[in-house]
Amino acid sequence: MSKEYQPVHGVWTSRWVFVLAAAGSAVGLGNIWKFPYIAGDYGGGAFVLVYLICIALVGIPIMIAEIGLGRHGGLSPIHTMSKLVRDNEVSRKWTGVGFLGALSGFLLLTFYSVVAGWALYYVWEMGSGALDKASPEEVKAAFDGLLASPWVLLGWHTLFMVLTMGVVAHGVEKGLERAVRFLMPSLLVILLILLGYAINSGGFTQGLEFMFTFDFSALGAEGILAAMGQAFFTLSLGLGAIMAYGAYMPRQITTPGGETKHVSIGSTALIIAVLDTAVAMIAGLAIFPVVFANGLEPSQGPGLIFVTLPLAFGQMPLGLFFGTLFFLLVSFAALSSSISLGEPLVAWLVENEWSRRAAATLIGGTAWFIGIGTVLSFNVWSDATLGGNTFFDILEFTVSNIMLPLGGLLIAIFAGWIMKEPRIRKELAMQKFGVYMVWRALVRVVAPLAVLAVFVHTLWDTFGG
Ligand code: PHE
Repeated sequence: MSKEYQPVHGVWTSRWVFVLAAAGSAVGLGNIWKFPYIAGDYGGGAFVLVYLICIALVGIPIMIAEIGLGRHGGLSPIHTMSKLVRDNEVSRKWTGVGFLGALSGFLLLTFYSVVAGWALYYVWEMGSGALDKASPEEVKAAFDGLLASPWVLLGWHTLFMVLTMGVVAHGVEKGLERAVRFLMPSLLVILLILLGYAINSGGFTQGLEFMFTFDFSALGAEGILAAMGQAFFTLSLGLGAIMAYGAYMPRQITTPGGETKHVSIGSTALIIAVLDTAVAMIAGLAIFPVVFANGLEPSQGPGLIFVTLPLAFGQMPLGLFFGTLFFLLVSFAALSSSISLGEPLVAWLVENEWSRRAAATLIGGTAWFIGIGTVLSFNVWSDATLGGNTFFDILEFTVSNIMLPLGGLLIAIFAGWIMKEPRIRKELAMQKFGVYMVWRALVRVVAPLAVLAVFVHTLWDTFGG
């Protein structure tokens, strides 16, 4: 018989802190770096439309399931899943969902920290004026130079990991809550300042057109699958981060008037998804105009924010200031995401009677160590490839395209088919029965089928054809 664990981590002091924390997890490199360029790649408006549909039909229902399971269990995802397995008298194998999630989150953390380190480096690089009026060659050389220097990458990766684990080590209220209370409002203010700057840059109409022109021919099946994957990644689903945060969500709150009110999971998830989507859109609207105003091409991948954007800012009035702000924004967004990657395993160790400090040191230290593999993938090990893929490529692909969808699929199936229906209904306590039925249909049928389709396509693409 497995041991009964008790919730020991405390709870968010209000529903809004949960919203900030979950939105903090959701808003990350995926919104500011990836969303704008894949939207551009797959036909702008057409992609945005499909992406929104995926968020609504797959993302939100799975997010509701994750928060619901988390709050019901009240523990780290691993112990939450074993508690749910016990309470619902289902096969012990389902505990594996918790382990899978914790492992995915941990692996994601190992390389997320390296890429977030690039953003920190650019705060420094822009702030120091090194890229002022730099030529395209110089800006490109600066980025290539960064990737070619294992020690520099390692230094920034180390700093980012220390920041992340420093927050996690302080616990739910003094660490996570304090961090998101500062990071999220700052992030929003910076984003709006940058949007204002973009509106006045002279390239705004072009930027708008680029993001919202409906070009269905550029979309294709690939685009639809990319939209699905992005919806998943950007909402932080499938690895227990949101489940862990859900465990600290209060069931009831007392209003200032002294009334007790039930905290609704459905509407909370909706708010988080809307915030996340809004940030992705505004990031696009802040980035592309600056790119166009300087007659540059919105190129692909890391190049967009690390090469094209510094180049553009380097040419503009007050560009260094706004460029520095931009990378600060990226760093804040990354930090509020990475703490949600560290929390599930640290919480699990704490439930096993570790101190938070020791747990954060162990998890952070191990993730940091594995992250060295990613650091080396860009230089010393760049030729050590498997089928042309570096260590980083393989890790990134496995986590984002295999482990996350698999985790999401299992969570949807567990919440929709395995868990005793009255329990999940009671946990969600949706006021309108119709809304509950819609959620149930989405989480039982639509979301699993959609995720499965993406999953099969990915596997087929990689190993089949
Ligand atoms: N949602 C984050 C982003 O968009 C990434 C992330 C995924 C963070 C899963 C935590 C958990 O960058």
